Amino acid sequence: MNKILGSPCKVGKIEIKNRTVLEPMGNGLSELDGGVSPEEIAYYVERAKGGVGLVITETASVDSVTGRANPRNLCVDRDELIPGYKKLADAVHEAGSTIFVEIYHPGRQGMSMFNGNRKMFAPSEIECQAVHQPVVAMTIDDIKTLQQKFVEGAVRMQKAGIDGVEVHCAHGYLLNQFLSPYTNKRDDEYGGSPENRARFILDIIKGIREACGPDYPIAVRFSANEYLDYNGLDPKEGITLELSTQYAKMFEAAGADLLDVSAGIYETMNVAWEPTGFEQGWKAELAREIKKVVSVPVICTALIRDPAYAEQLLEAGDCDFVGSARAYLADPAWAAKAIAGEDDEIRQCISCLNCMKGLMATGVVKCAVNPQGCMEVTRSDIKKDGNGRVVAVIGAGPAGLEAAKTLAIRGFAVTLFEKNAEVGGALLQAAKPPHKDKICAYIKYMKGQMDKLGVKVVLNCSPTPDDIAKLDPYAVFVAAGASPVVPRSIPGIMGENIYSVEDVLMEKVDLSGKTVAVIGGGMTGLETAEYLAAHGSTVSIFEMLPEVARGEHFQNIIDIQHRIGMLPQNVNHKLTAIEDGKCFFEKEDGTKVEFACDAVVTSMGMRPNTEFAEQFSSFPNFKVLGTNVQYSSIAPATESGFMAAYELA
Ligand SMILES: Cc1cc2nc3c(=O)[nH]c(=O)nc-3n(C[C@H](O)[C@H](O)[C@H](O)COP(=O)(O)O)c2cc1C
Repeated sequence: MNKILGSPCKVGKIEIKNRTVLEPMGNGLSELDGGVSPEEIAYYVERAKGGVGLVITETASVDSVTGRANPRNLCVDRDELIPGYKKLADAVHEAGSTIFVEIYHPGRQGMSMFNGNRKMFAPSEIECQAVHQPVVAMTIDDIKTLQQKFVEGAVRMQKAGIDGVEVHCAHGYLLNQFLSPYTNKRDDEYGGSPENRARFILDIIKGIREACGPDYPIAVRFSANEYLDYNGLDPKEGITLELSTQYAKMFEAAGADLLDVSAGIYETMNVAWEPTGFEQGWKAELAREIKKVVSVPVICTALIRDPAYAEQLLEAGDCDFVGSARAYLADPAWAAKAIAGEDDEIRQCISCLNCMKGLMATGVVKCAVNPQGCMEVTRSDIKKDGNGRVVAVIGAGPAGLEAAKTLAIRGFAVTLFEKNAEVGGALLQAAKPPHKDKICAYIKYMKGQMDKLGVKVVLNCSPTPDDIAKLDPYAVFVAAGASPVVPRSIPGIMGENIYSVEDVLMEKVDLSGKTVAVIGGGMTGLETAEYLAAHGSTVSIFEMLPEVARGEHFQNIIDIQHRIGMLPQNVNHKLTAIEDGKCFFEKEDGTKVEFACDAVVTSMGMRPNTEFAEQFSSFPNFKVLGTNVQYSSIAPATESGFMAAYELA
């Protein structure tokens, strides 16, 4: 039981029932006109039912004409949208939580094509180095008009019964751009000094206070450090913690009731929503320092995952609320379980950023560990109709585990076979490189679910069709994973001192002190190279494509390159032979390259174990699950496991 986490706390005049906050998180679920959709309501209700004290919605634009960052941006700029927000507020209240809406304008981080191909508003004409959209410096009239739109948006939310608004001044969006010396080079009353740079925001806060009255809660989310050094810039060019403590005091004096402390801008996106390289609590000092200079409550967001850590932050007085976005995507009931101290019941986020990858690439958010996330309308009603019918699931990787779990919830009698001595499949290997141990918590959770749900787990067993026939199964699901591709046509590839990724990561070989060529610069190759370097090998990476990690979400590439950028990474190098301790490559222009090494590790892709699976194809309701699990592609595996189990007729 985490007592402080479960205790109430006031924000202005209203009381939040506990110290947990669902931080804003784009879910791609709003209507195309900026209205609240049934899917959106279902998403938030699920988390409210899961015990969270305060729900803060994702960004809602105060101007749908100039201020959209994506086609499914919530908007608050029209009265006709109020009924949708009312439904949302009513539904979240009924489920037991308080709800704020985060109002914003993306400024130079918005997308011109979603705004009538207009230039995007910004304090100064400085293009964002991440989205590269055309920008225009706002006139004083533009600022005053938009200020009014923020106020009107807040008034609409109050009319809708939304409990409060959060003014979004973080993550490099328009109001953050005004606060930051990096993006605000104005020489009028909106630039030049902290007071001037804050003027726009302070006038918005005062305007909302005046229009919505003294009791309407106003939260301010801001980046307490832009960490420009993460992008190789001088941190002092942007917002530092020192500067943001000044801003925090100004926000409070202007009437803010709650400060939501975050970090980063698009150019330093990895510090805002972190990939796997960051550890729990790494930026907790930001909230801790802000808390020291204000008397209004403070929310800390710092990759908070473990309930005991959340409790510790509260106990130390570092913050008044603990916030997370992805913890609740991965497990909608994080709050209730965390308060109750049911740590083993929590399905933790693994920081793979599959959610953000989807949001940015297709607008569809999918969680790698929660296949029901953002699909609450279509995937919540798991039928309890298994009636003890027997299902054999072969392979206890992410696909097999998810299938077994869902089948067991449905009431099927599940036997899960695993050829290894423990469950996890390729996840066991995926968890080995530096900073990837977050996956271990997920494996542990799934293992616990097998026990809890009564799945019969048979380890060290690769069953034959005869073994399975003895069960007389109603269905057979095969999640047999994949095996490394070894192109036998390359002379010498079957020789000595040539190893697979599995050999290295599962410690079947020790290459410390050796010079190693890693062949294949996909994310698995890069991670294996990092592992080898961390274990004392001298590593060079060779990739036949013109770039490493092709197809990976850019944040994950930036993350790992921050750590292994110094390792030689030879692109456009096609392996042609391995002989006498040398690798031979051909470059695009036909040039030949030799590389002398003690050992070679191949990471040249994976091939599904289709032949193994096909042996079982004559069984009723036979299904092949999963794909190869590589970095950040756990999602398709869990998705296939869930869907097969969910849809089994
Ligand atoms: C997919 C995704 C969408 C996000 N959308 C928003 C948003 O709309 N507004 C916002 O203030 N923060 C947004 N964030 C940032 C989160 O609120 C949070 O600060 C961040 O994810 C770090 O916390 P976490 O590790 O607990 O998720 C988003 C993060 C992710 C991963």
